[in-house]
Amino acid sequence: MKNTFTVISAGLFAALMAAPAMAADKITYYCSAQEDWCQLMANGFQDATGIKVNMTRKSSGETFAQIKAEASNPKGDIWWGGTGDPHLQAAEEGLTEPYVSPMRSELQDWSISQATSAGDKTIGIYSGALGYGYNSELLEKNNLPVPACWKDLLKPEYKGHVQMANPNSSGTAYTTLATIVQLFGEEEGFEFMKGLHKNINQYTKSGSAPIKAAARGESTIGIVFMHDAVKQAAAGFPIKVVAPCEGTGYEIGSMSIIKGARNMDSAKKFYDWALSKDAQALALEVNAFQVPSNKMAPTSDKAPDLDSIKLIDYDFAKYGSSDERKRLLKKWDDEVSTLPQ
Ligand code: G6P
Repeated sequence: MKNTFTVISAGLFAALMAAPAMAADKITYYCSAQEDWCQLMANGFQDATGIKVNMTRKSSGETFAQIKAEASNPKGDIWWGGTGDPHLQAAEEGLTEPYVSPMRSELQDWSISQATSAGDKTIGIYSGALGYGYNSELLEKNNLPVPACWKDLLKPEYKGHVQMANPNSSGTAYTTLATIVQLFGEEEGFEFMKGLHKNINQYTKSGSAPIKAAARGESTIGIVFMHDAVKQAAAGFPIKVVAPCEGTGYEIGSMSIIKGARNMDSAKKFYDWALSKDAQALALEVNAFQVPSNKMAPTSDKAPDLDSIKLIDYDFAKYGSSDERKRLLKKWDDEVSTLPQ
């Protein structure tokens, strides 16, 4: 049964890609995942179709802002990767184009729900749980306790040892803010963010930067998606990964076609290709340990096991809505980021 399905699926995909690329075919690709994965996807698509890819890597919130700024004269064709909330906001604000891919039958339910909730203007390509990682050598050297919960990160001993990204630029950090608000309620959640602020050594632009800094020994604890911490551990750095004891949020990493894309045919080809098993299998070549949305794409046993992590029922419709995202970010800017440390 599985084999028959695989054969049909490979046939469907080959048929989709059968139209030969014209010499001038090109695509402007905005990517919000890890740089090495973005690049591999660009090369993979170019190899599979002959379409020339022009890539820009920026964090999720930054890419959203760029697409919005370019709305009257769109320069990008496809936005691949990054957390789902800004993709949902882009859909709501009419910045992205509805598309129903013939690859849908191969996708996980959570990927399709993301599409359904956004009038088909976005779709889930991967998912992953939020948490944090720490450098075990630095922790020991500084005589710091081993953290296990979100609330542990408020301990005064960790002052100057914790790093996270800025939720305006980074989807990871926005997921952190929205997760804390959902876990503890808005009032207590903001008190938590204010307490955490006292221990933060830097708010970075990109979401995964804090764990790269911990891997290099420049900071002790980084609040990131757990798969980003596993990637550093797999590279041999002394990074331990924590699934916070209170429970945690997660992302549905997403993809959207930009409204008014100049290379609409190429954008749709990229979209179909990126949902295929083979394209999603590329993730493991760069140790991207997210859960793929194509049911047949391979996973690694190093990947965080989402079934064993206490996940909250993250309200994507609410926290991906334009009003809520703007409101929370403004509140964080006004009440948290301006506080003295
Ligand atoms: C990393 C993670 C992705 C996530 C992305 C968001 O690349 O591996 O799973 O979607 O961060 O990036 P950002 O810089 O917006 O936090």
